[in-house]
Amino acid sequence: MNFKNKNIIVGICGGIASYKTADLVSKLRQKGANVKCIMTSHAQEFVKPVVFGELSGNQVFTDMFGEIKEWDVEHISLAMWADIFVIAPATANILGKCSNGIADDMLSTTLIATKKPVLFVPSMNSNMFENQIVQENIAKLKSYGYYMLEPDIGHLACNVIGKGRFPKTEKIIENIDKILSGKKLLSGKKVVVTAGGTKEEFDPVRYIGNYSSGLMGYSIAKAAAKEDAEVILISTENFEEIYENLKIKKVKTANEMRSASLTLYDEADVFIMAAAVADYRPEKKFTKKVKKENIENLCINLVKNPDILMELGKNKKTQFLVGFAAETNNLIENGLKKLKNKNLDMLIANDVTQSGAGFESKTNIVSVIYKDGKIDSYPKMSKIELGEILINKISSALE
Ligand code: PMT
Repeated sequence: MNFKNKNIIVGICGGIASYKTADLVSKLRQKGANVKCIMTSHAQEFVKPVVFGELSGNQVFTDMFGEIKEWDVEHISLAMWADIFVIAPATANILGKCSNGIADDMLSTTLIATKKPVLFVPSMNSNMFENQIVQENIAKLKSYGYYMLEPDIGHLACNVIGKGRFPKTEKIIENIDKILSGKKLLSGKKVVVTAGGTKEEFDPVRYIGNYSSGLMGYSIAKAAAKEDAEVILISTENFEEIYENLKIKKVKTANEMRSASLTLYDEADVFIMAAAVADYRPEKKFTKKVKKENIENLCINLVKNPDILMELGKNKKTQFLVGFAAETNNLIENGLKKLKNKNLDMLIANDVTQSGAGFESKTNIVSVIYKDGKIDSYPKMSKIELGEILINKISSALE
């Protein structure tokens, strides 16, 4: 990885992790980048500007109205000079300011003035990070095209274990490289996603079904398409094919979903089963609408449907296979069992009893369980954002 002739502005905010940014600046310079640093006044309470001046080999910008060294409007010329902005650590404060168009110091003003890519590296206490306002600001910034690097989970300066840790320098550099080189995460990969609840018919107008809206699966499919994968969504619901590389295969029943899945499985690099497949279907389908006049108690005998994911797991070759688990109790224990029994690489467990999680809702609360037993638990977030995070995690696991 070489950043020769690349101009990188590193914005440093007032968080305890600001001392770790010194390593980032040093490594970027070692890789050939021209680095200039902008520090907020709070950042200067943690680390002195001279550290970043020495490491970057350039003047550190701290003040909108300081002594002018070159006759230029500094925040504008910096905004244009940069090939990329990296804000590390990005505090709740800068995320809030930027998402609301506030420009009241050198860093926030320069950020508003730039059209170049901006990568935020949020790092803070886990309660602050999970705060709904911060999450909404992050979602808003992402929807405007700002890049966001997920903080790590681990030991935080406030002596708790949680999400908010500043990522390793190497991880930040990898993300800068991806943005600068325009590389997408899933170029050349085929991704198949299932979505929605299957509809098990017992007469021409009625079926047994569940509350799945298909939004979770669709959000994942969209996120994969955005990352340049060739995506097929096998869905019981109607969605728009908003990207050229996102195709939808409409199905109704578990058996139809099974045959579409098996047909596409061999060619898939990643297969994600987010659908809520009915475990049972009516044994018999009446050819005509059942009339209530002739029947007092209608008994419908149910027979077991095939477990599609189990079958995919048994026939797995090189595919990265992801399942979901909709649980009402013992989330992790049951999730781990499903991961193992179905031979999965990753399982996303949602506790569907929690408000804002699971079926129908626009948000979800999940734990991602990896094959090696590692578990990442996420706070409530929109299914759209979760789709992006899951695609990020899956693409990292593919590397
Ligand atoms: O569609 P939304 O309204 O957005 O809601 C999203 C969701 C709640 C449906 C989704 O997040 C979810 O949890 N999907 C899986 C629901 C489910 O059927 O869970 P399960 O624990 O019963 O099944 C485990 C896994 O086996 C799932 O990946 C499922 O797709 C698969 N399965 C289940 C039964 C079956 N006969 N065949 C299967 O392949």
